[in-house]
Amino acid sequence: MEKVVITRKIPQQFVAQLESVAQVEMWDESLVPMPRDQFLEAIQDATACFITLSETIDEEVITAAPHLKIIANMAVGYDNIDINLVNQNGIIATNTPGVLTETTAELGFTLMLTVARRIVEAEKYVQNGEWQSWGPYLFAGKDLNNANVGIYGMGEIGKAFARRLKGFNTNIMYHNRTRHKDDEEALGALYVPFDTLLQQSDFVICTAPLTDDTKDKFNAQAFEKMKKDAIFINIGRGAVVDEQALVHALQNEQIAACGLDVLREEPIDMSHPLLALPNAVIVPHIGSASVMTRNRMIQLCVDNISRVFNQEQPKTPIMSN
Ligand code: DGY
Repeated sequence: MEKVVITRKIPQQFVAQLESVAQVEMWDESLVPMPRDQFLEAIQDATACFITLSETIDEEVITAAPHLKIIANMAVGYDNIDINLVNQNGIIATNTPGVLTETTAELGFTLMLTVARRIVEAEKYVQNGEWQSWGPYLFAGKDLNNANVGIYGMGEIGKAFARRLKGFNTNIMYHNRTRHKDDEEALGALYVPFDTLLQQSDFVICTAPLTDDTKDKFNAQAFEKMKKDAIFINIGRGAVVDEQALVHALQNEQIAACGLDVLREEPIDMSHPLLALPNAVIVPHIGSASVMTRNRMIQLCVDNISRVFNQEQPKTPIMSN
């Protein structure tokens, strides 16, 4: 008998699909991760697990789960999984590319405009009853029109972001590990070295996944190179940014503001210095959070598991690095 462990509560319509082919053990909370010791116990006789980015898949997990065939990660990013170790052990890992691209780009765009037009500060000002009169520079922000926008990480989400920028009369630059010459004309995006992107961008948008190459890419040296009125947006992964360096850059006006969907430690510790800065807007890792996209991500995980149980190729396997 197949057994699936699901580490977050998901809607019954999806659970039912798995129950028709397997025994299902599901954690009963949707906002609290399954405790690690409970996860380790549950996977002992599991043949599949449906996880989120809160679960780290490492040696301890692989040793505890000798029957595992598939790990379905409900995310496109898979820095929570030691993929080489998983594949070496004959286990298939899958992620959710494609279905979340446009939704995540939309969140990045929302954050960019929110920070540029100081929407969070302005809304708090109204709520606090501080609005006395119209003011010539009251919450004066920054135009996207005519701006240089630099995208770091030109994967599917970076491209979706660039497509949106085209309608906003911007100059688009990008930097990526590999150049996408074929897409440049359609996107109207110019490939530039990383330093040029930092030096010339009015908005720097990070969509990069976390890898050995991207870890701490936005460090003190990077922020020093950016324009003093630049806005930095991160919808990739938190550890691509050295957060101490970011706090220093914001406090010392090396850059103007930031918008972050992802942090090194999630959830954020309430004593984190970023929370004290009015020019930092932080949202709780909701890039792919539209109802339709979350449904599609879950369905893709379910499909991948069902296919592996059926001895078919999963739709979206993760390849070893
Ligand atoms: C992903 O898919 O990697 C997102 O960060 C989670 O929504």
